[in-house]
Amino acid sequence: MAAGNGKSKANSATKGTAKKQAPAKASATKSRGAASDKDVPPDARSRAALLATSLRHHDTLYYQSDAPEIPDAEYDLLRRELVALEAAHPSLLTADSPTQQVGVAPAEGFETAPHRSPMLSLDNAMNADEMRAFDARITRMLLQDTETGDRAETPPDLTLDYIAEPKLDGSGIELIFKNGRFVQGLTRGDGQTGEDVTTNLHHVPSIPKTLATDNPPAIASVRGEMILPLAAFEQLNKGRVKRELRPFENPRNAAAGSLRQIHDVDYERLGSLEFRVYALEEGRPESFLRQSETLELLREWGFIVSPEIAICRGVDEAIAFHEQLQTLRGELPVEIDGTVFKVDTITEQNVLGTLARAPRWAIAFKFPPEQAETILEGIDFQVGRTGAITPVARLAPVRVGGVTVSNASLHNQDEIDRKDIRVGDRIVIQRAGDVIPQIVRVRLDRRHEAFKENRTLQRQSLPAHCPVCNAATLRLEGEAVTRCANLECPAQLKTNLTHLASRSALDIDGLGGKLVEQLVNAGLVSRLSDLFALDEERVLRLERMGEKSAANLIASLDRARKTTLPRLLIALGIRHVGATVAELLADHFPTLDDLLAAPPEAIAAIEGIGPTIAESMSRFTADGANRAELARLTELGLVLEEPAPKPTGADAQANLLEGLTFVLTGTMSRARGEIKKDIEAAGGKVTASVSKKTSYVVAGEAPGSKVKKAGDLEVTVLDEAGLLTLLGSD
Ligand code: IVH
Repeated sequence: MAAGNGKSKANSATKGTAKKQAPAKASATKSRGAASDKDVPPDARSRAALLATSLRHHDTLYYQSDAPEIPDAEYDLLRRELVALEAAHPSLLTADSPTQQVGVAPAEGFETAPHRSPMLSLDNAMNADEMRAFDARITRMLLQDTETGDRAETPPDLTLDYIAEPKLDGSGIELIFKNGRFVQGLTRGDGQTGEDVTTNLHHVPSIPKTLATDNPPAIASVRGEMILPLAAFEQLNKGRVKRELRPFENPRNAAAGSLRQIHDVDYERLGSLEFRVYALEEGRPESFLRQSETLELLREWGFIVSPEIAICRGVDEAIAFHEQLQTLRGELPVEIDGTVFKVDTITEQNVLGTLARAPRWAIAFKFPPEQAETILEGIDFQVGRTGAITPVARLAPVRVGGVTVSNASLHNQDEIDRKDIRVGDRIVIQRAGDVIPQIVRVRLDRRHEAFKENRTLQRQSLPAHCPVCNAATLRLEGEAVTRCANLECPAQLKTNLTHLASRSALDIDGLGGKLVEQLVNAGLVSRLSDLFALDEERVLRLERMGEKSAANLIASLDRARKTTLPRLLIALGIRHVGATVAELLADHFPTLDDLLAAPPEAIAAIEGIGPTIAESMSRFTADGANRAELARLTELGLVLEEPAPKPTGADAQANLLEGLTFVLTGTMSRARGEIKKDIEAAGGKVTASVSKKTSYVVAGEAPGSKVKKAGDLEVTVLDEAGLLTLLGSD
């Protein structure tokens, strides 16, 4: 597992905003250090809160869902920023800060058990300077210790011996052996408590079930990394693709996923895992003086120790070893992402000691992302959930970081233009832990070779017509993304139908993704309104559809026919029109006809609705096909009722937020609609776009560009806890 981190696949929203400072005008959260809070500049506090929220989100994705969203390197940047803020303002540091945690609490589904002692993480060094700083820091500490006389045997020459081990990119595991017999195996979990995966571990061949010794300790706590060798990883993913399952992003996620199988356990997958040992936490013979001796003993006991280990005398040798390991990296059968250096002498380890999260005597010196060169053979276009058309680079297959890759993300047209990427180009790609790499740059200096090698270079633009339905594509001003504008595009239809059926929209009970898929595939629904034209007889034509389910679906559709204007607006999936905007629109245009008749200026004039939303809304209402669709919905019995009145007077909380305007962004722990209601009940207003008049932006997880805008306009950014503080309910 990566050093207390490890993410893949960039989430541009998080990536873009996480590095930005979001200046704040007022106190952001109450949960962070109360007494000395006034010494902390508000922008530092709100930034720390935002970083903490973001890190928690990524920790959960990484440790619990085995589905990271951002590359390790990006996670490390976020974490380092928070560490720096907490160091500069100690009152920001709370016990529950992600910088003090190792992983997250175990997921539901497995029994949990406490570790015999905490499973710690490692601090990182990203370059030789940081490695030298680490060496200087601990050397200084050891020397100080000698001066105070606590450690008389410290040699005068303090060139430290480091044991270098590959940093294996898998999942940390603790194995307990009682009198030499394997009795329990735990995942790292939150470092204190792990998931009990003993049963699955019995199927991993490289875990000895009895230690190969006549003299085992009463208890041995053996720690190491569960990895999936690259060949097995590629094999596993090939099988998944064949079965139309999503391939794993990287061997690390695949290993963690294999280990945590609960139902229909695939024993072959477990059989291809490999356990490599790196520590004997408990059960070490007292006579042992060095970590290297411990590894030797573990090898004798029957464990696999990585072959690429060495003792490095001093930091220069350590750096040289790291560079050598990096050149070997691509040839190794397993994924590694750096070198772990540990002070080899156990007495010195003990003097240096351990902090809450990581030992002081070890460091993970990380490799930079791996790069390789290949030819860009073509660009495919995929239509995503919201109609967004994403270019995907098709590459001549190339091995990078031990994995063969044949496509790369290209994000959008701007990126293609900015990097001047042409089909036929020789390009540099980069993998940062994930299988899908990014295009770093074009080898412009080698373009002249194309002719000799029979490659024609072609500029490529995003298509003017959707590759799935052939409708015209459009790119709104100020947006990077080109979209298919056809709501009925089969690529979008399924997502739009699922969205329409969701709770905050028309709330159609029983209509989930699977049923939507069936309805569209069977040709029963090819536009939104078709749903309301369904009858039992037609629904019964679907495979495996019983009479009761068919009757239930029709009854749900009947109930959903009676709705409100805001719900309908949400259900239509109009770009930028979520719950807040829908309510604002309905407040100003009480009926659908009023809204359809409203000129764009009237929509743009609503306070809290910015020009982007107004343009999107007007474009939607101006479209004849959309109007026809709305008319058909009415014909098919859709009725709009008055929304329930908002709480006022005695129902409302004291007007705590009177005169304040809020903008909500990102994923919150509760539905945004509910949060909006709370704010309104306390006299506040919620608008959709950030302006100078906005009092606060409340940012949930993975917040969007609104946080950046808030930063530009110097609007305070709160997290959810900060909002609760304002509401007086914290
Ligand atoms: S030693 C107290 N050695 O990296 C020190 N960890 O970021 C604990 N890892 O949780 C770890 N290779 O899962 C150690 N040779 C190695 C390692 C290694 C991979 C993982 C391990 C740990 C994480 C820390």
